[in-house]
Amino acid sequence: MTLPEKKSALGSFIEGVADAFAFPLRTSHYIELVNPLWTSHSMQARIEKVWDESATARTLTLRPGKNWRSFKPGQHVRVGIPIGGRHFTRTYSISSAAESPDGCFTITVKAIPNGFVSNHIVRQLKPGDYIPIGIPQGDFYLPDAQPVKPLFITAGSGITPIMSMLRTLDAEQRFPSTTHIHYAPQSYDVIFGQELQALERKYPRYNLRCIYTRVPGEEQTEEGLKAQHFTKAQLEANCPDWRERDVYACGPQPLLDALEAFWEKEGLRRQLHTERFRATLAPSNVAGQAGTVMFAQSNCKIVSDGQTNLLRLAEDNGLNPAHGCRMGICHGCDAKLVEGCVRDLRTNELLSEAGQSIQICVCAAVGDAVIDV
Ligand code: FES
Repeated sequence: MTLPEKKSALGSFIEGVADAFAFPLRTSHYIELVNPLWTSHSMQARIEKVWDESATARTLTLRPGKNWRSFKPGQHVRVGIPIGGRHFTRTYSISSAAESPDGCFTITVKAIPNGFVSNHIVRQLKPGDYIPIGIPQGDFYLPDAQPVKPLFITAGSGITPIMSMLRTLDAEQRFPSTTHIHYAPQSYDVIFGQELQALERKYPRYNLRCIYTRVPGEEQTEEGLKAQHFTKAQLEANCPDWRERDVYACGPQPLLDALEAFWEKEGLRRQLHTERFRATLAPSNVAGQAGTVMFAQSNCKIVSDGQTNLLRLAEDNGLNPAHGCRMGICHGCDAKLVEGCVRDLRTNELLSEAGQSIQICVCAAVGDAVIDV
């Protein structure tokens, strides 16, 4: 046994003894009262600094507590946000370079219209606040080993994981030949705009192509964005050697759908890596069957339209079920189906076995159902 192992074994023993006296809580719960960053039963971060990137986007510098681990640029982290006695969880890409000397990392959050949680983060959180966080996750990152020739395609706040990659490449002084196509409504909406331009000046091999999509005076819609965002001619004009490049893309769903369809058609799908923050849903050609959902533990009956996912349905009616990613990945929302039938919105598969576990963030009720929430 090495010295650190001995120490950690001794530490665990002492903590175990202390836990026996602290029962039914754990020693870590009392330590939390002294410094939330020292706890071991949950991970917290202290907000060290806030910085407005644009009128609607804010960067939070977070100092993570015990059990944090290093991340790869491009990965994301779950953040817990307590608001008015309720607990919400959201997932955000890390925007800072890996291996910051001060041990902190940043997330950059854009307040979306009617986004209750994102608006709270951007407008209300302040230095000194503590928030629960998860460990860094995700497989959207540049490979360590082989050098790549990246083509980054980003839109709006989809730039955040790419910013982490760019900052890391800059910090490690291994900036490869890079083309970066970024879409934003107008020039002043570009998050990190000045820093991107500074990188372009610093590295002649970093080609930044900003494309502005908003026609002044017109309302911007997701479908409109899709139409404006991506064409082969535009790609050829901005990145003639796109076939030779590994593509890393993050942005709104219609853009990512368009990119995936294009690279698939070109037979180069393996070169395209995308980061999504919403589940890809099956075509909604299945008519939802309205009914009543009983959330059994909460003793709450809610009318369902047969299309709305169960997590959203519960939250919209004042319940606060456990959840994480909200897109069918983490299983943080798993709950037991007690009775009835639900549809997995990603596949349209029907699930009706009493007692089976379902992911309430991606399932809608089909008619009446009872869920153990
Ligand atoms: S919240 Fe992550 S799978 Fe449902």
